[in-house]
Parts: sequence; structure tokens; C-alpha cells
Amino acid sequence: MRNESPTPSYAQDEDDFLYSVRAGLRQHPKAIPPKYFYDAHGSHLFDLICTTPEYYPTRTETAILERHGAEMAEMAGDSCTLIELGSGSATKTPLILRHLSDDAVYIPIDICASHLHNSTQRLQTMFRAMKMQPLCADYHQLADHAIKRQAGKRQVVFFPGSTIGNCTPDEAVTLLKNVAKLVGPSGGLLIGVDVKKSSAVLNAAYNDAAGHTAAFNLNLLTRMQRELDIKLDATQFAHHAYYNETHGRIEMHLVSQCRQAIRLGKESFEFEPGETIHTENSYKYSADEFEQLARSAGWHLQATWHDEDGLFNVHYLNQSAAEPLKLAR
Ligand code: TRP
Repeated sequence: MRNESPTPSYAQDEDDFLYSVRAGLRQHPKAIPPKYFYDAHGSHLFDLICTTPEYYPTRTETAILERHGAEMAEMAGDSCTLIELGSGSATKTPLILRHLSDDAVYIPIDICASHLHNSTQRLQTMFRAMKMQPLCADYHQLADHAIKRQAGKRQVVFFPGSTIGNCTPDEAVTLLKNVAKLVGPSGGLLIGVDVKKSSAVLNAAYNDAAGHTAAFNLNLLTRMQRELDIKLDATQFAHHAYYNETHGRIEMHLVSQCRQAIRLGKESFEFEPGETIHTENSYKYSADEFEQLARSAGWHLQATWHDEDGLFNVHYLNQSAAEPLKLAR
């Protein structure tokens, strides 16, 4: 890798996890933030979810990037600094990087150090001349100056995977405002957003027959046992994911299968049968809904690309109010 300094690590520590779990279990209804899914095993399970036949977003977004990556790179500027939020395995990234020039800079940011290291190495062998500067961090907690701006280089955030949907709309606005500050007034945003559709298709996507999504959700309990020494029986919880049409979101829960208590240090948390820990939301937005949300964070839609069936959108936004091009495909 051509990154001169060792990967700086701002990753969450155990105390952070302990604090969040304790606070989340004290809440009514109980909830734990989704960022804790991504230990090494969770990140691996997430990759498996993305390969299931039911989980359409990954392959749909990949096809959009394959088809229109050149136009996206042209909007971003081919010698930009591309900052990827939650880069994970970064499987879609080459579809943009291959259209950038060698003097572009790639900055992947991920909370999982092993995933970040492996994917950056793989990309560096594909794009040998490109400068890559991995950053192990929670992108929700990035300071404005976390990334040094290089004069004359546009900074563009790449945020694929509809991860923005895992924020509530209010959190999404905050995150998009922070992204705007991070990249500065000339910066851009290339973002993948999953679209509202039939409950049947959505419910299937988060309940794959192979059980990877269930394993991913339940892995949070295993991680809590291993890292926090929490006393619980993971077999007494079940995965539950469903589309909440009122809120336009998939909700993921861990459902207690019986009346039980789990213990964390001296504290005991009681569960009724059927009571849940809410572990994640995945909001779905039409192009118009997303445009409005982004506008309240200071972003202007420049272009939208989608698949033929209208399952998924990729948007390019900037901060100047230029007349949008609105490519419809
Ligand atoms: N952000 C994507 C989505 O909401 C991917 C994702 C995040 C996901 N957490 C997940 C997919 C849990 C399945 C299960 O769809």
C-alpha cells in the first residue's frame, strides 16, 4: 500500500460497546445500534447476505454501477479524492475507480479493521498507482478535519449499499450535513438508495432462506457474550424482520422466545415472551423523497441512475444549486 503512515485507528473500543448495550437494554423498547453488528464474523455474514438470491440491492446496485460508472466518474471528476463510507469488502468500488485517473486518491473508511485492511490491499493490487489512505473509524463520528483537503482536488463521498437507510430520516439529515462539511462546498456525493416496493419483495430480502440475515442479527448476541461477558442464552432469541409500511422501513429485531432475564454485571434485564431488542431499521426512499431529505442537508440532486425494474437508485449530488440533469434510465 502506498499509505505512508500506519492505519490510524479510531475504532470503537469495548467500553463504547458496553456503554451502548447497557443504555440500549435500559430503554423501552429495548434497542442496540446497528454499528455493533460489524465484528469480523458479522462483516463476513454481511458479505454472505449480499450474495443471497433474495437480497436484490447488492446485485442491482452493482449492475447500475457497471453500466453507468463512467458517467458517475465524469461527474465526480476523474482526479478526485473518493472517500468511501463503510467500505467493508469494497466489492463495488472498482466499478468507479476504474474510471478515475491515477492521480485520484481513494480513502476507504470502515469500523472493521480486518475488512478495511484486506479490501484496501486487494484494491491496491488492482490500481497500483492510485494513492490509498484507509481510515479505521466510525464515519458517524468523523471530525470535519478528519481528512486533509488537498488543494485543487474535489472530494467526493461514495456511499453505496443503501446504508443511509439504516439511519432514521433525522439522523440521515445530520449525517448528510456532516458529509457536506467534510467534503467542503465544491464536494460531491455519490449515494445508493433502496426504493419503496412491495412488502413481499422487501420481507424476502431480509429473511433469506439460507438464514444468513438471521445469523447476522443473532451474531450480535454472541458478540455481547464474548466481549461483554453478558449472561444470556442466544438460542432463546429469534430473528424477526418485517416491512413497516407506515414508516417505510424494514425493522429488524431479536425476539425473546420466552420470559427470561439476561444479566450484565450486577444488572438484570427482564424480557416478556415476544419482547424484542430492536437492532436495525432500513428506510426506503423514492427519488423524490430522497431529493427532499438531501436538500434539507444542503445537497442538490444532479443525476439519478436506476435499474430497469426501478428497484434501486444511485444519486449524484453537489452543493451548488445547478440545474439538475436528472438522467432517467
Ligand atoms: N444498508 C443495507 C440495507 O439496509 C444493508 C444492510 C445493513 C443489511 N444491515 C443489514 C441487510 C441487515 C440485511 C440485514 O439493506
